[in-house]
Amino acid sequence: MTGTPPPPPPPPKKAEHYAATRDWPGYYAAVLGKPPRDTLLAALASFEREGPPGVAVDLACGEGRDTLELLRRGWFVWAIDPEPAAFKHLYARVPPEHDRRLQGVLEDFSADWPDSIDLLNCSFSLPFCPPRDFPAVWEHIVRSIRPGGRFAGQLFGDRDSWAALPDRSHQTRAEAERMLAAFDLEVFREDEKDGNDAGGFTKHWHVFHVVARKKQP
Ligand SMILES: C[S@@+](CC[C@H](N)C(=O)[O-])C[C@H]1O[C@@H](n2cnc3c(N)ncnc32)[C@H](O)[C@@H]1O
Repeated sequence: MTGTPPPPPPPPKKAEHYAATRDWPGYYAAVLGKPPRDTLLAALASFEREGPPGVAVDLACGEGRDTLELLRRGWFVWAIDPEPAAFKHLYARVPPEHDRRLQGVLEDFSADWPDSIDLLNCSFSLPFCPPRDFPAVWEHIVRSIRPGGRFAGQLFGDRDSWAALPDRSHQTRAEAERMLAAFDLEVFREDEKDGNDAGGFTKHWHVFHVVARKKQP
């Protein structure tokens, strides 16, 4: 007997589909095994020209793609995220010989971390900071980096689709530049493009990719 063939399975969702609704376990499953972020790699290349590895905070570390790279290169890492599923993926992949250099912290952006750190890495996460908390979080980030240390990560622009959501923190280019006034900019790349996936999900991306070195006082 010939019947109607079953419908094809829905196309796989892209990571941003999960991020749009803060479905972090879904997001981690979609990105698991991806390489470290380019902004982290650029910051590490600069540090490696200057001296030995230091202390990094990976703020909103997610499933750990950047934390794992920092550990692999000999850094001590404070990995911070409020989502337990992030640490499930991260801890399962930390080689035992790197374990003593990792401090996992299950907390949100209001977490404490040491002063005078060498690197504050925050990849693709700052827009998820509640707008009312954002000024204090950014002030903490800047204050905690030692002179000569770096911020690496992304700020999300005002023309990004998610800027319309009430719980997101986005900046104009002028605001982003003002926020980075205490730094020399090693990378400041504004990226704006439309993204679509086979499931019909569309997103306009407006992102500032940043690697910035804190000025001497
Ligand atoms: C898009 S993921 C990015 C993860 C990772 N940094 C990366 O580059 O793939 C955003 C991360 O922000 C975290 N996050 C969401 N809200 C947060 C908050 N209020 N405080 C700190 N982290 C938060 C999520 O748990 C998630 O791991």
